[in-house]
Amino acid sequence: MKNDYELLDFGNGRRLERFGSYILDRPCPAAEHICSEKPVLWKQSDSRFVISSQNSERGYWTTELKPWSVSFEGINKIIKGTINMELSCTPFGHIGVFPEQQINWQRIAFALAEVSKQRTETIHVLNLFSYTGGSSFAAALAAPNISVVHVDSAQSVTDWAKRNARLNGLNSIRFIVEDVRKFVHRELRRKHCYDAVILDPPSYGHGLKGETWKLAEHLPALLSDITGLLSNNQCFILLTAHTSGFDSSAMQAMMNNAGMSQEWSWEKFVMEIPATTGKYLESGYGIFGVSPSPQNNKIG
Ligand SMILES: C[S@@+](CC[C@H](N)C(=O)[O-])C[C@H]1O[C@@H](n2cnc3c(N)ncnc32)[C@H](O)[C@@H]1O
Repeated sequence: MKNDYELLDFGNGRRLERFGSYILDRPCPAAEHICSEKPVLWKQSDSRFVISSQNSERGYWTTELKPWSVSFEGINKIIKGTINMELSCTPFGHIGVFPEQQINWQRIAFALAEVSKQRTETIHVLNLFSYTGGSSFAAALAAPNISVVHVDSAQSVTDWAKRNARLNGLNSIRFIVEDVRKFVHRELRRKHCYDAVILDPPSYGHGLKGETWKLAEHLPALLSDITGLLSNNQCFILLTAHTSGFDSSAMQAMMNNAGMSQEWSWEKFVMEIPATTGKYLESGYGIFGVSPSPQNNKIG
């Protein structure tokens, strides 16, 4: 099966990507100070996002496209099937998926598929800052005995995630619209536990009632709260971020300070998207901690 996604080129502060039958040209701060490899390709774009001169967080698309669906075969190597996502050109420049997460979908699906071979009981997964649901679906599709709780503060993206869940034939995910820190505090009070935790916090964000989220200020305490949510059958924690200056070593230090067990094995990585030109676009950092339990295996 052919993947619906290709990074065709990047450079001059922009990225050119194919999502199914559409080619989009979007801003990309990581591609500043890089020259594009194939300038001629950029003429094929179906729509181009232009940042507003008044508000750098908004803008417009040169051609309005109706929402469309694509299939990502990111988990196909692990389990049969694809992740289907509805895409839409938003006034914020994002379109409903972060393609650099495909390799993490494989990590999630592989780890959970391995654990589920050893366990018949339900495996509880918590996905925080979960946006339109890619990582939630990778988890839920990994095995039949996975239960996923998906938390995001934005009602609109949670509705989008619910539509995506239907596209993937999934009806067991629990969707929560809530500020992540409030949700985690409540789960601690209720003594609810999770076997695996996934989080992709933004640099800045807002909770449901306007609560401020600042990664540098709030992530250390959130990680230590998360250690209190891990069950006796804990299998992994996956942290990714796109915050300038916050690399995998900083993530490791924060995990250690939060009291995460030193006995876990930690894989530190750079998120990169391979382009069809052969180059790689850096798209953030991550850390994947696997608990020492013999049931858990690293992605091979
Ligand atoms: C970088 S996106 C996550 C992308 C996602 N991991 C994926 O791969 O599709 C950040 C998400 O965090 C959510 N968010 C920001 N601040 C939040 C908060 N305080 N509580 C809950 N969600 C928040 C935003 O609504 C957004 O959907």
